[in-house]
Order: sequence, then structure tokens, then C-alpha cells
Amino acid sequence: MTVKLAPSILSADFARLGDDVMKAEEAGADWIHVDIMDGHFVPNMTIGPPVVAALRRVTRLPLDVHLMIEQPDRYVDAFADAGADLITVHQEATRHLHRTLEAIRECGARPGVAINPATPSGTLDEILALVDMVLVMTVNPGFGGQRFIRSTLRKIEMLRRSLAERGMPEVEIEVDGGIAPATAPEVTRAGATVLVAGAAIFNDRASVSDNLTALRRAIPA
Ligand code: DX5
Ligand code: ZN
Repeated sequence: MTVKLAPSILSADFARLGDDVMKAEEAGADWIHVDIMDGHFVPNMTIGPPVVAALRRVTRLPLDVHLMIEQPDRYVDAFADAGADLITVHQEATRHLHRTLEAIRECGARPGVAINPATPSGTLDEILALVDMVLVMTVNPGFGGQRFIRSTLRKIEMLRRSLAERGMPEVEIEVDGGIAPATAPEVTRAGATVLVAGAAIFNDRASVSDNLTALRRAIPA
């Protein structure tokens, strides 16, 4: 499977969000990763469905919406209507995970499930058949620019193996947090197929295009 790059707009300029998204699209991004935070599930707040709807109008790329919110089932419809292509909920924030994942599919979006660094991959055994993607958090969610947590590598490997054993090699494994040219080779070798990157793409050191190219070059063939 070719590895996809999903720039996270958390590190973009929120006053020029449309421009930054367009830059990422022109530079060859595969998806746009949109971080939704509620100040409860994570100690930070970001944006909601109206901003997703506005982004939908400026890009044709799939919008990969990562819900770091409590009771995400209450907002699935709103994000699907706003134009989210993928909707990922946290296992830790969802009481009836099975029902919520089915609700995402019924809305016409692709369901994903996310797990924090402290959550074992085995907690997903009963719902793997319902998802198009598993998001393995490689930092504790809430902020951009944090350091990659190396113990997550084993979890990515275990999940990839478990998906292969179940005959589901097409399920994406997305990694999110601390992804940069230095960490991209290890996560992709472990089995990740979608790399989210915020600080490594949107920073003052180089252009979005140069940063995206550097990240792509770091992925082993
Ligand atoms: C963190 C978010 C990430 C964040 C990653 O809670 O889910 O998507 O933007 O940022 P970097 O790539 O800077 O670690
Ligand atoms: Zn994210």
C-alpha cells in the first residue's frame, strides 16, 4: 500500500487556514487532517463543523476528521454534513463504540477508531471489522509539536499483524504525533500507511512544499 501524507492543520495559520490547506494540496498532500478538540477529552480546544464546512469549499482532498471529544456520537451527523470524508473517534471517549462506528458509516463517511498511547490495541479486537482505519496516537493528544513516543511502534506492528491475520490488509493504520523525516521510516516499517504531520509540515523553517517533499523522501520504498 502506498503511504499517504495527511498534513495536520493544527500547526497551520488559523487566520489563513484556506491558504495553508491550498498550499498543502498543491504540494501533493493526500488528505487534510483536521483536529477537533473539546477542552474535556483533551486539554485544548480547536474548531467545529462550521470550519470543516468552510474547508470543504477550498479543497478536493479527503478531509480526515479526528474527533478528540467526549461523546462523539452526538456530533457524527454534523461533521458528516459538513463534508468530512473520514471520521475518527477515540475508543476512550466512546461508550458504545460499535454503535458509533456504524453511525459514521450510515452517514456516508468512512469510520476510524483512535487509541491513545496508554490504550492496548487488543481493546479494538471486537470492532476491527467495522473500521476503515485505526489511528495509533504516537503522542498524548491535545497539542502539536510533541515528541514521538517510541513504545507505540510495537503496537503498530501488532495491529498490522492482527489485521493481516484477519484478512483485512486494506485497513489503514494512521499515526499521529511527532511524525517527521526522522520518525517516518520506523512507523512505516512497523505498518503505518497514513502519516499525519503538523509541526513538520507547517513551520517557519521551510515551505510547506519542501517540508512535504522531505517527509515523502524519508519513507522507505
Ligand atoms: C495532536 C493532534 C495531531 C497534531 C500532531 O493531538 O491529534 O494531529 O497536530 O502534531 P505534530 O505532527 O506536530 O506532532
Ligand atoms: Zn490528529
